[in-house]
Amino acid sequence: MIEIDPLPGVGAQITGIDLSGGLANADFALIRSAYAEHGVIFFRDQDISAEQHIAFARRWAPIDINRFLKAHPRYPEIAVLTKEADQQENIGGAWHTDHSYDQVPAMGSILVARELPPYGGNTVFASMYGAYEALPEEMKRRLGALRAVHSARHIFGKSAEYGKARGGRIGNAEAAERLEDSVHPVVITHPLSGKKALYVNSAYTIRIEGMPEAESQELLAELFAHCVRPEFSYEFEWRLGSIAMWDNRSTWHWAKNDYHGHRREMHRITLAGEPLSA
Ligand code: OGA
Ligand code: MN
Repeated sequence: MIEIDPLPGVGAQITGIDLSGGLANADFALIRSAYAEHGVIFFRDQDISAEQHIAFARRWAPIDINRFLKAHPRYPEIAVLTKEADQQENIGGAWHTDHSYDQVPAMGSILVARELPPYGGNTVFASMYGAYEALPEEMKRRLGALRAVHSARHIFGKSAEYGKARGGRIGNAEAAERLEDSVHPVVITHPLSGKKALYVNSAYTIRIEGMPEAESQELLAELFAHCVRPEFSYEFEWRLGSIAMWDNRSTWHWAKNDYHGHRREMHRITLAGEPLSA
């Protein structure tokens, strides 16, 4: 029997389900509503092949192949995120949400642990439903009228330190240069849950549209500090067989880089989303 246990801060753990086979419609509907409600769902003790990972992803939405990450040699749908034992930099090692720089941002990602360090390497998630809810009413009103600009260029572009420091693991800087910045409401109505979520993030959001630069930076800094308050977050400890599936519109995540000298390999499939509105 499927059980859904909400976790403190953000997310829910789901037990009593095997993701390697086809899911019954009723089971899938339960998982889907938990995902919409909690923003990130975690599964343990799963044994799924690359093909099964792809089949599970397709059940949700078309696959949105990330432009900048290295693809699996045999399965282009799967992005491979690694940190080798002799590397210092990890991927995703600061608070962010994936793909907000796209005009139609990805719905979410399904991340499978393939090789884990003996300690560390947790991923921390934060709820943007929770962050929005906790704002003072006056701030909610103010933000409701604003839109923000998001960009990939300063992270993945030609002169970006992030890409350079990660060598061959991040590529396609030309695509980042060509990509037109996206503009999204600062507060979105979530397409699956209908709840409001704060939709700015400290990696890709560069300014508030139409606001003087200094004021825009000040407001963003205030929001970013608010979003990382510990009461909105949950730290997930990976084990082999663990799978995390998060929603990019209602959560942030951050891969901790605290396992130098050990290898970590994760496989991610990104799912296509829909246009966002206030
Ligand atoms: C990602 C990411 C987190 C991790 O897959 O988008 O940021 O813990 N990964 O590897
Ligand atoms: Mn990420």
